[in-house]
Amino acid sequence: MARRLENKVAIITGAGCVGPGWGNGRAACVRFAEEGAKIFAVDLKLETMEETLARTREAGGEIEPYLCDVTSQSAVLDMVEACIARFGRVDILVNNVGGSAKGGAVELDEATWHRQLDVNLKSVFLTCKAVLPHMVAQGSGSIINTSSTSGIRYTGSPQAAYAAAKAAIIQFSRVTAVEFAPKGIRVNTVVPGQLHTPMVETRLAGQRMGGDVDALLQSRLKRIPMGWMGDGRDTANAALFLASDEARFITGTEIIVDGGMSVRCD
Ligand SMILES: NC(=O)c1ccc[n+]([C@@H]2O[C@H](COP(=O)([O-])OP(=O)(O)OC[C@H]3O[C@@H](n4cnc5c(N)ncnc54)[C@H](O)[C@@H]3O)[C@@H](O)[C@H]2O)c1
Repeated sequence: MARRLENKVAIITGAGCVGPGWGNGRAACVRFAEEGAKIFAVDLKLETMEETLARTREAGGEIEPYLCDVTSQSAVLDMVEACIARFGRVDILVNNVGGSAKGGAVELDEATWHRQLDVNLKSVFLTCKAVLPHMVAQGSGSIINTSSTSGIRYTGSPQAAYAAAKAAIIQFSRVTAVEFAPKGIRVNTVVPGQLHTPMVETRLAGQRMGGDVDALLQSRLKRIPMGWMGDGRDTANAALFLASDEARFITGTEIIVDGGMSVRCD
């Protein structure tokens, strides 16, 4: 059977992970490579990508790491040119960089607000701005942006800047989808829920529960109707579908990957 992304070139941002295991970007690199894509893996640091590179190559995939801060326009332009120089084209862009900071409207300081919007939202704008002209020239492309259930619901703590940025990604994607649909380019969003990724142990437990990982996992688990927590592979599989030609008539929409959490109201 033909692989679902045979010979496609995919830029995946945030291709590393805060710890060992299945973060969303790492899982996307491995799954996309398993389906035949050539991966241009983008992150701030090489260390965070070592496991991604190893797992992708173990799966028989081709992956090129590239260091870039996706909140910098000049760095993003250089990054996209480097991908074109390496692989000759770009068919898929997965915008996965992001992360939450705690705080509601009063608690948040202005610098954190700006950082949250830069890393979660401006990064999506800058990479789309740089990649779209190449996709237009090719007459095809698929962009998958990463939101969060925090962008559509209150999910247990007031992380107002993160929620605002993740909500904005959805509408940015819809507007961009309509504008570029006639050029053969699709733009969709994955909306992960409360996953058990390495970020839970590495950052979130400290941010939310004074470092009590079990307490955090229990509080997240009890919101999920399915009764278990997915991980980065679940987000990656949704992104894979949206990236593939199976989704050829799908643009300007979202896939929620949350075990039913966001439809629950009890
Ligand atoms: N993990 C979850 O439960 C969850 C839930 C909902 C949404 N998400 C979203 O999924 C995405 C990935 O989350 P994760 O927890 O798997 O990731 P993670 O925090 O484990 O990894 C993110 C990677 O992005 C890189 N990065 C950060 N800033 C960067 C920058 N400016 N330029 C380039 N690279 C940068 C980091 O070095 C890191 O390797 C994020 O957008 C996050 O908001 C995650």
